[in-house]
Amino acid sequence: MGDKLFLLFFLSLFLLLFSSKTCLCSAAVDTISAGQSLTGNRTIVSKGGDFELGFFTPGKSLKHYLGIWFKETQVQNKAVVVWVANRDQPIIDLSSSELKLLENGNLVILNESKIPIWSTNSTSTAFNSFELVLGDDGNLLLRDGLNPHVVIWQSFDHPTDTWLPGAKMRYDNHTKKAQKLVSWKNSEDPSPGLFSLELKPDIEFVLTWNGSQQYWTSGAWDGESFSLVPEMKTRLFYNYSFVSNENETYLRYYLYVKNVRSRFMIDLSGQIKQYMWLQATKEWNQFWSKPIKPCDVYGYCGPFGRCNNVEDSSCQCLQGFKEKSLEDWNLGDPSGGCVRKTPLQCQAKDNFIQMLNIKSPVNSVQFSVDSSANCQSACLNNCSCNAYLYNSIGCSLWYGDLLNIQQLDNGGDELYIRVAPSEVSSSKKKPVHRPVIVCAIAGTLALLGLVLVAIWIWGRRGSVEMSIAVEGSLVAFTYKDLKIASKNFSEILGSGAFGSVFKGVLPDSTLIAMKKLEGITQGEKQFRAEVSTIGTIHHVNLVRLRGFCYPSTLSNGIALMVSTDIFRRIDIISSSAS
Ligand SMILES: *[C@@H]1O[C@H](CO)[C@@H](O)[C@H](O)[C@H]1NC(C)=O
Ligand SMILES: *[C@@H]1O[C@H](CO)[C@@H](O)[C@H](O)[C@H]1NC(C)=O
Ligand SMILES: *[C@@H]1O[C@H](CO)[C@@H](O)[C@H](O)[C@H]1NC(C)=O
Ligand SMILES: *[C@@H]1O[C@H](CO)[C@@H](O)[C@H](O)[C@H]1NC(C)=O
Ligand SMILES: *[C@@H]1O[C@H](CO)[C@@H](O)[C@H](O)[C@H]1NC(C)=O
Ligand SMILES: *[C@@H]1O[C@H](CO)[C@@H](O)[C@H](O)[C@H]1NC(C)=O
Ligand SMILES: *[C@@H]1O[C@H](CO)[C@@H](O)[C@H](O)[C@H]1NC(C)=O
Ligand SMILES: *[C@@H]1O[C@H](CO)[C@@H](O)[C@H](O)[C@H]1NC(C)=O
Repeated sequence: MGDKLFLLFFLSLFLLLFSSKTCLCSAAVDTISAGQSLTGNRTIVSKGGDFELGFFTPGKSLKHYLGIWFKETQVQNKAVVVWVANRDQPIIDLSSSELKLLENGNLVILNESKIPIWSTNSTSTAFNSFELVLGDDGNLLLRDGLNPHVVIWQSFDHPTDTWLPGAKMRYDNHTKKAQKLVSWKNSEDPSPGLFSLELKPDIEFVLTWNGSQQYWTSGAWDGESFSLVPEMKTRLFYNYSFVSNENETYLRYYLYVKNVRSRFMIDLSGQIKQYMWLQATKEWNQFWSKPIKPCDVYGYCGPFGRCNNVEDSSCQCLQGFKEKSLEDWNLGDPSGGCVRKTPLQCQAKDNFIQMLNIKSPVNSVQFSVDSSANCQSACLNNCSCNAYLYNSIGCSLWYGDLLNIQQLDNGGDELYIRVAPSEVSSSKKKPVHRPVIVCAIAGTLALLGLVLVAIWIWGRRGSVEMSIAVEGSLVAFTYKDLKIASKNFSEILGSGAFGSVFKGVLPDSTLIAMKKLEGITQGEKQFRAEVSTIGTIHHVNLVRLRGFCYPSTLSNGIALMVSTDIFRRIDIISSSAS
C-alpha cells in the first residue's frame, strides 16, 4: 500500500522542482529597520518569496492602499490581497506618500501632506531597536530587532477579510472583543463591507450582515469540529488547534502539506470560502464554502432584489425596479439593491405584480383579515406597504424594504409586489422555466459509459487533469446511511486493487458511486490520502466527491468508504444530445 501515489506529495515535488524562487531571493528584502520607509512601487518580499508587502491599487481604482498579497500565485497580474492596512483611508497621490517605521517603534502611513492616516499605535519604549519583517506565513511582524521573539504588533491580530494558515481567529476575554473578518465593499474598494465573520464567546462562529443580523452559524465546538461543519473532522488537508481559557478563545489551522497555498476568506457575496492554489493547474480552487448557496446570505441581493435559486444564484431586480447603482452591481456588489422605476401613486390606484414560487422576504407583519381581497386593500391603504401575501396562515404585509426574496423551483409562496399602475401593463408575468426532463434511455446508456470512465480514472489516480473539485461542503455519512443507499452493497459497479465500487441512491434521489476501501493498513493516514485523491480528481466534472464515511470501528476487512457523485452531468449530456 505504501507505493500508492499520494497526489499532494506529487504536487509538493512538482512545486519544489519547478518553482522559480531563486531569482526573487537575491534582489528582494523582507525587512525594514527603524527610520526606513517604503515608497511608491517599492515592496518587500518574504524570505521564501511567498508574500509581498507594498502599495497597490485594486482593479481600475485610482486609490492606493498598503497591503500584503501572494507573490507567486498571481493570475494574469491580479494579486490576491490578503491584508489591507488603510482599508478606509486610501491614498490619492502615491508619489509623496510612504510607509514608515518611526524610531519610536510606531509603524505609520503618511499621506501626501505627511500626515499619518494609519498607525499601529504601538507605544513600546522599552526597546531601542525595531524592525518590520514580512514572514513566509503572510504575517507582518513589528518586533524588537535584538530580541526577535518579542513581538510588538502583528498583522495577524488585525485581519482584513482573509484568515491565513497559522493565524488565530480569536475572541479576547479581557476586552470582550473578537477579531473579525470583514468583506470588502466591492472588488475595487477594500473598505469594510456588510458581511463579517467572528468567533463568539459561546464558542461558535457566526456570519453577520451589517453588524447585527446573523445569517449563518457554525454550531458549537464539540472538541473535534463545529457541530454544523462536520467535514472538519476529516482533517483532510488541515489540522486545527482550538484553545479556550480565561484569557482567550481561538481557532487556528495549519496545512499538512507544505508548498501548497491556502486561504480562507469572507467574500463579497457574504460567503466564507476556502481556496487552495495548485501549481499543476495554476489557479485558485474553491475547496469549501458556507452558506453553500449565495441566496442564503442575508441581504445578498439588497432591497427589492431577487435571488435566483433555480439557476445560478444571480441577483435580479423585481419587476418594476432597477439597480440602485449599476456600477456597484457590475463590481460584484448587488447588496445596494434596487429602486422603483416609477414612484408609487400612494393611493388605492397602485397595482400588484404576482410572483410565483417565492421564498418570502423577512420581517412580515401579520394582519387579521379573512380574504385575499381584504389583505390586498389592507396593503393599499398604507403607502409604506410594499407587498402582501395571503395563504393558510393568513394575511402578511411587508412595510419598507423587501429583503431576501428568493425565486424557488417549486413550492414557496405567491407573493404580490406593489407597483405603480404604469408598471403592470408594460409586461405580463412569465412562468418560471423548469429544467428540461432528461431522456431516461439516453441517460442509462451514458451512465454505463460514465461508470467505466470513473473506474478508469480511479485506477489511474493522480495522473492528469487534476484540480480540487469539492464543491460546497462534504457530507459525513454514517455507515448505516450508505448501507441503506446501496441496498446493503448489492449493486457492484466494479472493483480494483484497493476496493470495490457500488451503486447507490441518496435520499434526495442523487445517484452515487461508492468506493469501499479494503485491506486498510495505515488507518486514518491512508483514508486521508484516498479521500484527497478522489477529492482532487476533476475530470470534465465527471467525478465529484460528495462525502465520506469513516466508521469508528475499523474492522480488519472493510474500513473506509467514500461516496462520489459521478452522474451529475448525465442530464446535461443527454439534453444537449436531444
Ligand atoms: C516603479 O516606479 C518607477 C518610477 O515611478 C518606474 O520607473 C518603474 O518602472 C516602476 N517599476 C515597476 C515594476 O512598476
Ligand atoms: C492627509 O490626511 C489628512 C488627515 O486625514 C487630511 O486632512 C489631508 O487633507 C490629507 N492630505 C492630502 C493631500 O490628502
Ligand atoms: C490607532 O488608533 C486610532 C485612534 O484610536 C484608531 O482609529 C486606529 O484604528 C488604530 N490603529 C490600529 C491599527 O489599530
Ligand atoms: C446598516 O446599519 C446602519 C445602522 O447600524 C444603518 O444606518 C444602515 O442603513 C444599514 N445598512 C443597510 C445597507 O441597511
Ligand atoms: C498541525 O500541523 C502543524 C504543521 O505541521 C504542526 O506544527 C502543529 O503542531 C499541528 N497541530 C496539531 C494540533 O496537530
Ligand atoms: C472570561 O472572563 C470572565 C470574567 O471576566 C470569566 O467569568 C469567564 O469564565 C471567562 N471565560 C472563560 C472561557 O474562561
Ligand atoms: C492569562 O493571562 C495571565 C496574565 O497575562 C497569565 O498570567 C496567565 O498565565 C494566562 N492564562 C493562560 C491559561 O494562558
Ligand atoms: C403604515 O404602516 C406603518 C408601519 O406599520 C405605520 O408606522 C404607519 O403608521 C402606517 N401608516 C398609516 C397611514 O396607517
